[in-house]
Amino acid sequence: MKTLIKPHGTATLQVPLAKTPRESDKVNDLPTLILNDPALSNVVMIGSGYFNPLEGFMSFGEAKSVCQTYRLPDGLFWPVPIINLVQSKPDFESGQKIALLDPTRDNKPCIALMDVSDIETLSDKAIDEMILRIFGTNDSSHPGVKKFRTLGNFLISGKLEIFDLGSFPRDYPDTFRTAQQIREHIVNSGWDKVVAFQTRNPMHRAHEALCKLAVDRIGADGLIIHMLLGKLKDGDIPAGVRDDCIKTMVDCYFNEIPVLVSGYGFDMLYAGPREALLHAIIRQNMGATHLIVGRDHAGVGSFYGAFEAQEIFDELQVSNDLTIKIFNADHTAYSKKLGRVVMLNEVDGHVPNDFVTLSGTNLRALLGKGEMPPKEIVRPEVAEILMNFYQS
Ligand code: ADX
Repeated sequence: MKTLIKPHGTATLQVPLAKTPRESDKVNDLPTLILNDPALSNVVMIGSGYFNPLEGFMSFGEAKSVCQTYRLPDGLFWPVPIINLVQSKPDFESGQKIALLDPTRDNKPCIALMDVSDIETLSDKAIDEMILRIFGTNDSSHPGVKKFRTLGNFLISGKLEIFDLGSFPRDYPDTFRTAQQIREHIVNSGWDKVVAFQTRNPMHRAHEALCKLAVDRIGADGLIIHMLLGKLKDGDIPAGVRDDCIKTMVDCYFNEIPVLVSGYGFDMLYAGPREALLHAIIRQNMGATHLIVGRDHAGVGSFYGAFEAQEIFDELQVSNDLTIKIFNADHTAYSKKLGRVVMLNEVDGHVPNDFVTLSGTNLRALLGKGEMPPKEIVRPEVAEILMNFYQS
């Protein structure tokens, strides 16, 4: 049998998801904390095995170390603080066990228990320094920065025992998968080389071509389209619609390639290079051997250089810490001259006008007016789903 790529930091995936709380935990008697969205998505990611080998929320010292050195104090490579910030001083204390409640469901069920190891009060300056490290900016027009600023100044750290992965498994039963489930799929499919594609978009032809090209060049046995199912900034397309678009595109245009369409429960940070590093850890944990990183990966607006998310892997010499390989891709676009989507750095004799390009904003404007986008940009089957969404 083939051996899968090792998860990050441990020989085997630590599966932290417990079935039910133990009776001795007396959950109903514990102090409670209603999680905010980012903290909830951190719990879901730890519980899904994607953040292996983390066992809980980082302390301020750990978060600072991650921000400054890309490492936890014990030396483990980690690019983004995984923290639980809250707005008001809690009425429990360090050393206590608390119940974490899921705010997205009516009855706010307990999804995890936490052994509180510390409650720290962070100054605004400390929060700002953390923001600058994570996002490379502290401009509040950046959606990730804006969100981070609303979380609060009290940082609660400690180990978790997780029972439930929020509403993701119920809302997306055919798409949401844990890292362990994806590892099982890879083993059952007999795949050796596995390419992962991160996306927060319905897939357009540039995305489709990128995936096919990567599979071909790597000689991969399988492709995992791994979509973000958590929260996005205003204006981005909801997960259910993206899921529909991607599955339709795969049904129509990926007959030659073994594909798993799946998703994970995390909110988009829009942290560009740092998020790309986190994406690599997530994909190594689910068993992928390669991750595609294209133009402006996990970026937003003009906050990051088009290829900053690729360069950081070399700058940090990440290959000493991560086993997964990065497939760097140049800008892809449809060439009118060649009648297909190409990588811009691989074609000669083209001028900008030889490519069909359309920004996300212009695409949304077209769909909003009820006009079909060019078939060189969006497959007609996908355009139809998008049109229904924008017109409804
Ligand atoms: S992301 O925030 O998840 O990165 P998106 O879903 O648009 O956004 O992109 C998914 C992946 O495709 C990323 O690796 C991104 O860099 C890449 N990508 C998207 N569009 C292009 C393009 N036109 N050319 C090259 N790479 C692209």
